[in-house]
Amino acid sequence: MLMIKAENIVKKIKSGNSETELLSGVSLEVENGKAAAIIGKSGCGKTTLMSILSGIDAPTSGKAILNGSDYYSLDVKKQEEFRNNNIGVIFQNYHLIPELTCEENIRMPLVFSKKKISDDEVINVMKMTGIDRQRKLFPRQMSGGEQQRTAIARALVNKPSLIFADEPTGALDAEMGNKVIKFLIASAHKLNLTVLIVTHDMDIAGQCDIIYKMQDKKVQKLPSQQR
Ligand SMILES: Nc1ncnc2c1ncn2[C@@H]1O[C@H](COP(=O)(O)OP(=O)(O)OP(=O)(O)O)[C@@H](O)[C@H]1O
Ligand SMILES: [Mg+2]
Repeated sequence: MLMIKAENIVKKIKSGNSETELLSGVSLEVENGKAAAIIGKSGCGKTTLMSILSGIDAPTSGKAILNGSDYYSLDVKKQEEFRNNNIGVIFQNYHLIPELTCEENIRMPLVFSKKKISDDEVINVMKMTGIDRQRKLFPRQMSGGEQQRTAIARALVNKPSLIFADEPTGALDAEMGNKVIKFLIASAHKLNLTVLIVTHDMDIAGQCDIIYKMQDKKVQKLPSQQR
């Protein structure tokens, strides 16, 4: 089943009297249980596309079809409900809440979700991401990598069917970065999640099932022999 489908997405923004086109007709597809990468030069529009596909920012035209439903045609309340139950997001700069501990940050999505997740399951996610020993620490007391892994645990705790990761290894050294990516890809394959990862790193992209290259405000699927 197609879990993420972008249909001819256009994004324009107004600056003064002029209008700039950031995306000019992006179409892509990611199936259930697959991990896809988006690569492309800095400033080409990757984060803009991720915000649209993860339900944060509406496109000017075009559709984001998530788990089969046309997300931006839902009313705001339904959009929120859909996001809370189906989408996990990992940002470039973690967005942890400084006043909350590692574990409290990880549990945040559960406050807004209808899903019942047991304490054991929360502990399991912290173990999988290797931050169970840091659970009582505040973000300022953790290293960049530990904060990054906290953000990843937070994105996974609610068992979302869709995971959007925007350069999730930016703060990590090569070894830890690789571990995190392998973990995300394995989650897609084993838990049947659908994962979309933005990366600058061709090694990381090469581990994904599909690579989309962004250029000229559009994306193109790289044929497997070019990888
Ligand atoms: N709200 C905005 N107002 C003006 N320009 C914007 C806005 N949002 C994004 N842009 C511009 O749109 C372009 C695409 O930005 P985007 O953040 O999507 O790039 P990116 O591919 O994620 O880059 P990077 O790899 O550096 O993270 C950039 O030139 C950026 O300056
Ligand atoms: Mg970006």
